[in-house]
Amino acid sequence: MKELEEIFLKAKKDLEETKIFQDLSTFYVNYLGKTGKVTELMKKVKDLPNEEKRTFGQTVNKIKQDLQSLMEEREKEFAKQKILNKINKTKDLDLTVPSSCPHGSLHPISIIQNEVIDIFLSMGFTVEDGNEIETEYNNFEAVNVPKNHPARDMQDTFYLDNGQVLKTHTSAAQNRIMRKYGAPLKAIFPGRCFRNEELDASHENTFFQIEGMMIDKDVSVANLIYFMKEMLTHVFKKEINVRLRPGFFPFVEPGFELDISCPYCDGKGCRVCKHGGWIELCPCGMIHPNVLRMGGIDPDKCQGFAFGLGFSRLAMMTYDITEIRLLNSGNIKALSQAGIK
Ligand code: DAH
Repeated sequence: MKELEEIFLKAKKDLEETKIFQDLSTFYVNYLGKTGKVTELMKKVKDLPNEEKRTFGQTVNKIKQDLQSLMEEREKEFAKQKILNKINKTKDLDLTVPSSCPHGSLHPISIIQNEVIDIFLSMGFTVEDGNEIETEYNNFEAVNVPKNHPARDMQDTFYLDNGQVLKTHTSAAQNRIMRKYGAPLKAIFPGRCFRNEELDASHENTFFQIEGMMIDKDVSVANLIYFMKEMLTHVFKKEINVRLRPGFFPFVEPGFELDISCPYCDGKGCRVCKHGGWIELCPCGMIHPNVLRMGGIDPDKCQGFAFGLGFSRLAMMTYDITEIRLLNSGNIKALSQAGIK
């Protein structure tokens, strides 16, 4: 037992005297390894007379455990010291300097989309999804654009080998949504659209729209104006006036072009509104009876309005982006500006 105590005290002293991490392996080999002093003592237990076996065995075990945890503690001290040494070596380390790690930001399209979704959700609309690859029927026939109709020319697109098309507008989801929910219905459906366009600063082959529909008994143009004004006031964070001009779209009757009072000069005239005070923003109208009928809704019982807001343009206006192609460019320098604003 005396020898035990001596070994323990010596081991503790050796441990305290270790100076570097590597000294710990020597310590381990000397005391706790296969031929270490403590291990040797444990081997002796079996040769002791029975009455001594128990106390001796227990003591050696205790010593072994104590030395192990003391060694772990020492290990932690060395690890801590290593970090401190590193910090001390870095003379100019200033923890108060702001991080140079760049922050991510949302794409301008996502920012506008989220804002429009938020406001329509708060007014009781549901948010639906549309397909990017659509049947020709949904994209054209179901919204009152039959085969060979001249309106198809305005929306030439990419035709797939199986006869389907890359959808040219979010209106392509109208029929599916009417069939799914019937009337009454209040839904918006954002989506990516594609057209075979000549590319320039304001025309892209891939762009974004949000379609909206409200169908119920007694829905009128007054409802359309109300919801559009609410949405635009929320997006521009100021009261926006709207006006409707007649516009032709095969899926609405009457159809309109909705203009907004220029949010930048409040209608006084500036570069953005080309000094006219108004900006053409969103085509809309009262859903054509044919479209309702094809969606399984009786036009004698219900009416509805629809709009197709091109929010690539809205994002450009809001963030003063003059080149539409930047939106799909992955140019982080340009696109992160919106998030910072
Ligand atoms: N789908 C049309 C387009 O992309 C936009 C549009 C016009 C949608 C009038 C509508 C609407 O819902 O009522 O050119």
